[in-house]
Amino acid sequence: MTDVLVRPAIPSDALGIAAIYDAAVLHSVATFEDTPPGPERWLDKLAHSGMGDHVVVAVDPSAPDGDGDVEHVVGFAYSSAFRPRAAYRFTREWSVYVTEGARGRGVGGSLYAAVEALCRADGIRVIIGVVAQPNPASNALHERLGFRAAGELDGVGFKFDRWLGIRFYQRDLA
Ligand SMILES: CC(C)(COP(=O)(O)OP(=O)(O)OC[C@H]1O[C@@H](n2cnc3c(N)ncnc32)[C@H](O)[C@@H]1OP(=O)(O)O)[C@@H](O)C(=O)NCCC(=O)NCCS
Repeated sequence: MTDVLVRPAIPSDALGIAAIYDAAVLHSVATFEDTPPGPERWLDKLAHSGMGDHVVVAVDPSAPDGDGDVEHVVGFAYSSAFRPRAAYRFTREWSVYVTEGARGRGVGGSLYAAVEALCRADGIRVIIGVVAQPNPASNALHERLGFRAAGELDGVGFKFDRWLGIRFYQRDLA
């Protein structure tokens, strides 16, 4: 893939982000949601983001979407509250999704770098990844990015008729 550009998301990216995320909801256990939230989720997130809340996209400028004006989103990542209570405010959870055809080319790593830079600028001190197991690609991505494995919970999710565990990854920015 040539010249994938990573930048903060804008509202016109919401459809492209939703296409990736909704497919992950319907066909994978990478997310524990079971109802596709559609573009509204991302429009809302972009409109109401606070300190440490960011959405970034990877776009392929050489492959515009149908109307030619909207760049084709091949991946996205976002940071959001790890837990809602006040003392967690310097910690963010991040998530990342890359379309199948764009994987294995550094896009996930570039998306993380963008999220991390924005979080650092906001004074965020810790980034957490929560990875449903098994997920060798996401485990490898986190380890490559300098996260350390920080424990697992077994059987805390139930999707597609099976029980799922999660592994926490932690990266300290401070
Ligand atoms: C996980 C995911 C985001 C990785 O994106 P990506 O763009 O392929 O990742 P990168 O190309 O930046 O790879 C980063 C590192 O992980 C490694 N990696 C990526 N996929 C891998 C795989 N399937 N098996 C082993 N290692 C893998 C790469 O080799 C690379 O390490 P390297 O630089 O030492 O070679 C992508 O596979 C994906 O979207 N998966 C489905 C959604 C998902 O599981 N998201 C994570 C939710 S927590």
